[in-house]
Amino acid sequence: MSRSPVVGLDVGTTKICTVVAEVTEPGDAQILGVGVSRSLGLKKGIVVDVEDTVRSIRASVAEAERMAGTEVRSVIAGITGSHVSSMNTRGAVAVAGDDNGISGSDVQRVMEAASVVVIPPDRQVIHAVPRGFTVDGQDGVRRPIGMFGSRLEVEMHLVTGLRAFIDNVAQCVEGAGLDLERLVMEPIATGEAVATPAELELGVAIVDIGGGTTDVALFGEGSIGYSAAIPIAGNHVTYDLAVGVRTPTEEAERIKLTQATVAIDTVGNEEHVEIRAPGSAERRLVPRRLVAEIVLSRQRELLELVKSELTASGLVDRLASGVVLTGGGALLHGTRKLAEQVLELPVRIGLPLDVRGMSSSVNSPIFATGVGLVRFGVRHPETRSQTPAPVAFAQSAWDRLRALFRMG
Ligand SMILES: Nc1ncnc2c1ncn2[C@@H]1O[C@H](COP(=O)(O)OP(=O)(O)OP(=O)(O)O)[C@@H](O)[C@H]1O
Ligand SMILES: [Mg+2]
Repeated sequence: MSRSPVVGLDVGTTKICTVVAEVTEPGDAQILGVGVSRSLGLKKGIVVDVEDTVRSIRASVAEAERMAGTEVRSVIAGITGSHVSSMNTRGAVAVAGDDNGISGSDVQRVMEAASVVVIPPDRQVIHAVPRGFTVDGQDGVRRPIGMFGSRLEVEMHLVTGLRAFIDNVAQCVEGAGLDLERLVMEPIATGEAVATPAELELGVAIVDIGGGTTDVALFGEGSIGYSAAIPIAGNHVTYDLAVGVRTPTEEAERIKLTQATVAIDTVGNEEHVEIRAPGSAERRLVPRRLVAEIVLSRQRELLELVKSELTASGLVDRLASGVVLTGGGALLHGTRKLAEQVLELPVRIGLPLDVRGMSSSVNSPIFATGVGLVRFGVRHPETRSQTPAPVAFAQSAWDRLRALFRMG
């Protein structure tokens, strides 16, 4: 392979997933290998044990390397958790009219102006995405460079995270002997994988129900406008089931995956689920309706929290394409229909779209983030550390914001 592969590393709460791809032509790639290992060092999207996480990363990367037949040296890693927060900001600058119209440096200046917000020293900017420009009052401008006008405005979406948590992810990646090319907020990556360009343009909410967190991100006019992480997801369904039917979590997880449904009306009163006691031949029967009641109540509560986030975004009226539900938690039987009832929007289940190469290996919502991280790297090659950032900033307070503008 002439160029180094693009590698996505999804450090999730339940699994660590590595996706290795080869860029076949600008903006396009083919998946060469996938590795999945059990994640042991995270809680609710946050690293709580560096050593365990390093071990899990190594196992996942080694498997992907074997499948791809190539060595992985650097990765694009995802970041999530309730510490990640986002806000929209605005900035405006006067443009010195010359013959060439608005220049790259005018765009740089207005993005800097929009980023003059007080970011506490314990937080770090992960993304700064320009959502749209306004030139002399004309809004909805995508690429102002070369246009004529005297006043340039921008609306930016800033994503920040707690520095300590970000550093922990970086430490785990480096501890596994890998270079970290950049961090990408997981819902941004997931959106790249499961939503069509038309959905991202028209307005869509991506809801990624993982093991430890449920990420909510709203996109419109091609870019992200709101994001939040809810610290409840699939593992909480398993815990509730374990308590409710008095069995260890491993057995509760098995029952959830094989027998549980939130479509309680489809479960007859006479149906039963067999519960095995670990390490013994003992078997017990519990009503399948009880299992359904437990998982339904947790999944409904979670979807109600998702609904609150959609409302809080102030953008719910702009979701013309509805909701794409993804992550392993979206696979809980009956969830799509329940989500339509609770969210009062059309809902579809999101699998990674338009995958070339190894498509059957990643054909599940649990691979949405891993595939999305690769796609992010392929679609934004300027953000990869091997190539210089297109926008260079003077050494200044802007240093903290640099990573952000690399997306511009
Ligand atoms: N078929 C299924 N039915 C129900 N739940 C499922 C199914 N498959 C996976 N899950 C659940 O999905 C969750 C894992 O999803 P996923 O792999 O997307 O999480 P993750 O990326 O590791 O975690 P996070 O994104 O929270 O860090 C687990 O709670 C698991 O029980
Ligand atoms: Mg995940």
